[in-house]
Amino acid sequence: MTAKIIDGKAFAANVRGRVAEQVAGMKAAHGITPGLAVVLVGEDPASQVYVRSKGKQTVEAGMNSFEHKLSVDTPEAELLALIDSLNADPAVNGILVQLPLPGHIDEEKVLAAVDPAKDVDGFHISNVGLLATGQKAMVPCTPLGCLMLLRDELGDLSGKNAVVIGRSNIVGKPMAQLLLRDSCTVTVAHSRTQDLPGTVRRADIVVAAVGRPEMVKGDWLKPGATVIDVGINRLPPVEEGGKGRLVGDVDFASAAEVAGAITPVPGGVGPMTIACLLANTLTATCRANGLAEPEGLTA
Ligand code: GUN
Repeated sequence: MTAKIIDGKAFAANVRGRVAEQVAGMKAAHGITPGLAVVLVGEDPASQVYVRSKGKQTVEAGMNSFEHKLSVDTPEAELLALIDSLNADPAVNGILVQLPLPGHIDEEKVLAAVDPAKDVDGFHISNVGLLATGQKAMVPCTPLGCLMLLRDELGDLSGKNAVVIGRSNIVGKPMAQLLLRDSCTVTVAHSRTQDLPGTVRRADIVVAAVGRPEMVKGDWLKPGATVIDVGINRLPPVEEGGKGRLVGDVDFASAAEVAGAITPVPGGVGPMTIACLLANTLTATCRANGLAEPEGLTA
């Protein structure tokens, strides 16, 4: 079998287009422009790339983008004061504090300071609890993107066996909650799981989010399974001065021989994350203004 390649890049462009359309409608009908504030502390190169990309796509969707770049030695109190001011600012509908934060800043304290209604990352403990209890929450962007791809590929997910590999707060745990909410039978596997290949082999849906390059092999998969690869790992360069290939957590070549459908890396889940951030910003704006939520752009 040769798997269908799930085109996350095209799907993300479609999501961004739908967001932009709704933003235009919201401006015309209500004079409201959604605003997203992104806070970056320090100069981590990968984070800088993400933040630039977020700002650009926010503006392309017709929203206001507010970027706050703070130096690496910013005191925690200063960051908390900035978050307070963004919480109080009516022009800001979404707040994202780029992670990781420098070591002297308490990440939990910072995430707890963001107004849950503006928490477009879905990391505030209130949103985590709302999601876990099946209530209306802000849902973390990467798992939301994975869910959209899965629903598009499979339609109703009800009754499917899903294995999520990885138990992070950003991807694994919220992904498991979303799949459970869509009535999947969910297994969360991790580094201590016994017989991981055997566990994965029972799954109709595999979401790999462990950060281990090409760990999931084709012969671990049930034939026809749908495979969502969240990993983005750079392999060591083959030649000196080279850049090294980007690979996922799934061994794409062998997996594509067995899976029914699979996301590539790059061009799979990656582009969906920012698209879902824009969708979440739109959702937060709708909720803040008592407007109907955008269809097909929430969990
Ligand atoms: N760093 C890596 N991924 C993320 C994310 O989804 N949100 C935030 N805030 N920081 C990140």
